[in-house]
Amino acid sequence: MAERGNFGSRLGIILATAGSAVGLGNVWRFPYMTGHNGGAAFILIYLGCILMLGIPGMVSEFIVGRHSQANAYRAYATLTKGKGWGLVGILGVITSTIILGFYAVVAGWCLQYLGASVFGELKGDTGYVQQYFQTFSGDPFRPALLGVVFILITHFIIVRGVQKGIERTSKLLMPLLFILLLIIVIASCSLPNAAKGIEFLLRPDFSKVSSSVFLEALGQAFFSLSLGTACLCTYASYFTKQTRLLASATQIAVLDFLIALLAGLMIFPAAFSVGVEPDSGPSLIFITLPNVFQQAFAFMPALGYVISIMFYALLVFAAQTSTISMHEIGTAFFHEELKIKRSSAAWIETVACSLIAIFCSLSVGNPDIQLLGKPLMDFCDLLTAQYMLPVGALLTSIFVGWFVSKTLVREEFTNWDTTAKSFFKVYLFCVRFVVPVCIFLILMHQFGVI
Ligand code: PHE
Repeated sequence: MAERGNFGSRLGIILATAGSAVGLGNVWRFPYMTGHNGGAAFILIYLGCILMLGIPGMVSEFIVGRHSQANAYRAYATLTKGKGWGLVGILGVITSTIILGFYAVVAGWCLQYLGASVFGELKGDTGYVQQYFQTFSGDPFRPALLGVVFILITHFIIVRGVQKGIERTSKLLMPLLFILLLIIVIASCSLPNAAKGIEFLLRPDFSKVSSSVFLEALGQAFFSLSLGTACLCTYASYFTKQTRLLASATQIAVLDFLIALLAGLMIFPAAFSVGVEPDSGPSLIFITLPNVFQQAFAFMPALGYVISIMFYALLVFAAQTSTISMHEIGTAFFHEELKIKRSSAAWIETVACSLIAIFCSLSVGNPDIQLLGKPLMDFCDLLTAQYMLPVGALLTSIFVGWFVSKTLVREEFTNWDTTAKSFFKVYLFCVRFVVPVCIFLILMHQFGVI
C-alpha cells in the first residue's frame, strides 16, 4: 500500500481542522442560541463548555489519532490491549456517514440558493420566499440530485489525497470564507438600526440562563467542534510529531468560536434593520434570510445582490470543508481495513452517504418516509447530534482517561518533552472526570431522566 498521507504544514493542519469545525452549525444555530439564551451570558457559558469539555475532548481525539497514525477503527483498536475499543472508531464511521447524508442535502440546498441568488430568483416578499423553499425542497428530484452532486464534489477532492485534496482545498476555502464573512459583517453592521441586532446578540441577560441552556450550550459545542465522530482522530492521524496538540486544539476552538460570533454579527443587524425576527435551523437560511439582504440594501440594489451571492457562497464553502472531513473518516477506514485503493474506498463512502442523502431528501417532500415516527431527515439529525455524538465523545474520554497508558497520553500531550510544565494535570482531570460526568448529564437530559 502507498505510504500514508500527511498534512504538509502547520497552517494546513489548522485550516483543515478548523474547516471541519466551521460549518453550517456556526451559521444557523450558534447566533440564534446566543440571541435567545441571554446573549453575552450564554457566550460565557459556551466559552466555559469549550474550555472544560471541548478542548480536552479535541485533545483526546488528537492523541488517539496522532499516536496510532491510522484510521478511526485501528486507532482505537491498537492503543490498548483490548481490541473492543475499535468499536468506538466504527461508531465514528457510522455517525459521520449518517451526518454526511443529511448534511449534504442541506449543502445541496445552499448550492441551489447560490444559483438562485445569481439569477435573481430570490426577490420577493416573505410569502414568496417561503413558497419557493417549499416547492424546491419538496421536489422529489432536484434537491436529491444536488445533494449527490455535493457529495461527488467532496469525493473528487478526497481522492486527490490528504495534501493535494483536503489541505489545498481548506487553504483556499477557509481564507475566502473569512473574507466574505468580514465583508458581510461590515456591511450589515453599518445598516440603520443595526445596533438593535448587535444588542440582541450580545446584551447579557442572566435571567434567561437555566439548566437546559447549559445542556444546549454543551451540545452545540460538541457539534460545532466536530467532536465524537472520530473526525478529529482521523485528521490527527495526518498530523506530524511536531504538531502541538493542545495549542492546535485551542487555536481551532478559538477560530470556530470567532466565526460563529461573526455569523451572528452578519445575520442579526441585517435582519433587525428590516424588522425580521430571525429563527434557527434550515428555516433561518432558506426562509428568513433569502430576501433580508436585498431589503436591507434596497437603497443600493447592486450591493444587496452581491451580498446575497456572497452569503450563499460562504455557506457552500463552510459546508464543503466540513463534508470533506466527514467523508475522510469512512474513506480512510475502508482504504486501510479492506486494503483497497483510496479511490475505491472513497466510492464506498460516496455510495453509502448518497443513498442516505436521497432518502433524507425525499422525506422532506414526503413525510411518510419515516423512522420512529419522524421524517428520515429529522430522525438522522436527532439521532446523530443528540445521541451518537455525545456517546462517541463520552467513550473517547473514558478510553483516553482511564484505559490508555498514562505515559503514552503524557508523551503525546507534551510532545515527548519531559521538562514541559504543561497543563497536563488539568487536562487529565477534565478528561477523567469533568467530560464524562457532563456528557452523562446531557444524555440523561436527552432521555428525559433529568
Ligand atoms: N462541525 C460541523 C459544523 O459546525 C459539523 C460536523 C460535525 C463536521 C461532525 C464533522 C463532523 O457544521
